[in-house]
Amino acid sequence: MDFTNARNGSRILDIATGTGKQAFAFAKKGYDVIGIDLSEDMLKVANKKNKYKNVRFEVADATNIPFEDKYFDVSCVFFALHDMPLTIREKVLQEMVRVTKPKGIIVIVDYALPKNKIGRFLIYHFVKSYESKYYPEFIKSDIRALIRKLGIKIEKECLVMRGAGIILKGNKNG
Ligand SMILES: C[S@@+](CC[C@H](N)C(=O)[O-])C[C@H]1O[C@@H](n2cnc3c(N)ncnc32)[C@H](O)[C@@H]1O
Repeated sequence: MDFTNARNGSRILDIATGTGKQAFAFAKKGYDVIGIDLSEDMLKVANKKNKYKNVRFEVADATNIPFEDKYFDVSCVFFALHDMPLTIREKVLQEMVRVTKPKGIIVIVDYALPKNKIGRFLIYHFVKSYESKYYPEFIKSDIRALIRKLGIKIEKECLVMRGAGIILKGNKNG
């Protein structure tokens, strides 16, 4: 959230929000937040935990986001893209770009692999042992190339969790 560094008053979309952890972190800072997720059950938990007036949750498919073009200052997706086949992942990112204002912020957080060979081997096999069947394709794919193709300029990136995760912050090209 600090990495996002959004302006005060920003309208933020948290895609595939799950139980809303990230949405709450943004809400705590005073932003206007909407979290969407396909799963009603996840959102039931999110709604139960919600103690903020500036966050709300909606059941929605991220491949068809029910908001108009250029509605959000910031759109983000945390640890969800690796769970999707490439065609869906691409559609979700396209939708993310569509609903974000020109020059708006796009944040993607997901798995990565450390640079060193042993670390890569260990992390890959460990994560593969519990993650969805789409993880191997996701982790071998070029997420940076995909987001650039969709009109996002990568502004900043940061490896986290000893290289097993990455935060990518981009700008929607004007
Ligand atoms: C691993 S959870 C991540 C939750 C949350 N972002 C976090 O970091 O704690 C992945 C979430 O993606 C949601 N999801 C998967 N496909 C989706 C889609 N097409 N549209 C909206 N949500 C989706 C799932 O329901 C699930 O809640």
